[in-house]
Amino acid sequence: MIEKETAAPVADTLQSLRAEAARCRRCPLSGPATQIVFGDGPERAKLMFVGEQPGDQEDMQGHPFVGPAGQIFNAALHEAGIDRAQAYVTNAVKHFKFKQEGQRRIHDRPNVGEINHCRWWLKREIEMVQPDLIVALGATAARSLTGKNVAISARRGEMLESMEGVPVLITIHPSYLLRLSDAEAAARERRNFVADLSQAHETI
Ligand code: URA
Repeated sequence: MIEKETAAPVADTLQSLRAEAARCRRCPLSGPATQIVFGDGPERAKLMFVGEQPGDQEDMQGHPFVGPAGQIFNAALHEAGIDRAQAYVTNAVKHFKFKQEGQRRIHDRPNVGEINHCRWWLKREIEMVQPDLIVALGATAARSLTGKNVAISARRGEMLESMEGVPVLITIHPSYLLRLSDAEAAARERRNFVADLSQAHETI
């Protein structure tokens, strides 16, 4: 007798989606990482933020934007009047990609193949959370959400659309501010970042 193939159960809550994602081996990035860093936030949120990938701290703690970039992000959210607890915060790629240099793990940018592999999870997060607006923090998030290469310096502050048809506001990645050595440029870019977040807050 031929046994009927039983379909894998489809997660219908964020909690079950998170549990399903914890077993993800869709790409090799899960191997060296400590754990998956899935999105954080309520089951339904008007506002969703998408970053690039977890960093060293996020990989160890299991939550997005808890390291140095997260501190900048939190402060900018506060200035823009956004309560992070009301928003859903996630990443385009859910495992930390790094190069080992001695004791240090150095961030390594995910490539398009890795972004596309992980899009599976981001799509399901978007479908469940049903945000009114998604903020793309940097080029990897913008690429994942829109399926296109987006030049952040030229298009920040613009409203594009995700592949699911959700409006996507383009802005910088907060870690960009950490890399600017010129104090004046850093202050200007930070003001622009807060202005982009304020625009997101006013839109929803
Ligand atoms: N950078 C990201 O893009 N996401 C994080 O969660 C942390 C740093």
